[in-house]
Amino acid sequence: MAGESRSVLVTGAASGIGRATCERLAGNGWQVLAVDRDAAKLAWAEGEAAIATMAADVSTEADNARMAAEAEARFGGLNAAVFNAGITGGGSIDDLPFAAFQNVIAVNLFGPVLGVKAVLPLLRRRKREAAGGNGDAAIVVTASTMGIAGDSENWAYGTSKHALIGLVRSLSRELGWEGIRINALCPGPTKTGMTGMIEDVAPAHYDLLKRQVPLQRWAEPGEMASVIEFLVSPAASFVNGHALVADGGAVVGTGLLAPATGAAKVIPGAINK
Ligand SMILES: NC(=O)c1ccc[n+]([C@@H]2O[C@H](COP(=O)([O-])OP(=O)(O)OC[C@H]3O[C@@H](n4cnc5c(N)ncnc54)[C@H](O)[C@@H]3O)[C@@H](O)[C@H]2O)c1
Repeated sequence: MAGESRSVLVTGAASGIGRATCERLAGNGWQVLAVDRDAAKLAWAEGEAAIATMAADVSTEADNARMAAEAEARFGGLNAAVFNAGITGGGSIDDLPFAAFQNVIAVNLFGPVLGVKAVLPLLRRRKREAAGGNGDAAIVVTASTMGIAGDSENWAYGTSKHALIGLVRSLSRELGWEGIRINALCPGPTKTGMTGMIEDVAPAHYDLLKRQVPLQRWAEPGEMASVIEFLVSPAASFVNGHALVADGGAVVGTGLLAPATGAAKVIPGAINK
């Protein structure tokens, strides 16, 4: 592929991880179609020669068809697709209305399913045309550490992200035969639009989340973009069906972290009895 420009579609591109991914890939020679339902917030990409934008709602079949048609018209195919758009959906099983759960599933799970269906013909064609039929084709979905571990009052979001990893593992078996790779990125706490209010509105919770990370900090969106870039690149040519956790080491532990000072572990009173 040396000397050829590769093309990628990125959803949830108006802010956070999606925006950082667009910027990073465009900066490294990719042609990018940046998609978000929030048209106004896509204005950051104005004047970026390698980035085209479009407003679309990933939860609808019609908008996913429009996204694919736009990529086809602009690039004549796709080398990669990053299904990253997502919403939160916190609330207990008693409190969260079923309609809110349906909305979380529609965006976080149906979105990537409809997206994969829509872009597969473009990935297949580009792969056929490139490198004597051996071009690399890659799909990445943004899951979460909440797709690997559970959390209280976050069941709707967690369910959607667990299902996404199931989708990735299943489709890796189905599409691998064609040489199309599909992987999930599982970010830990990352400073984005989704989490931005936590520091202001609930500083104690912000600090608690930080202290659960051995690296003792939140990630920057660019630290997720670099992992996505790896997953869509030929450098990851044998990585398929993987859920890559980028969380500073948070989910591999017990949740009971010693403070950075090295002093004794802080054990919540309820557990200490
Ligand atoms: N920030 C974190 O700590 C964190 C942790 C784990 C996983 N994630 C995941 O990362 C992904 C990106 O989120 P982020 O943290 O960058 O948040 P963000 O809010 O900054 O970005 C998400 C973007 O998705 C867009 N979007 C939402 N619903 C959409 C729809 N129906 N159609 C099109 N666009 C839509 C929003 O407008 C927004 O621009 C999400 O899937 C999220 O679940 C984030």
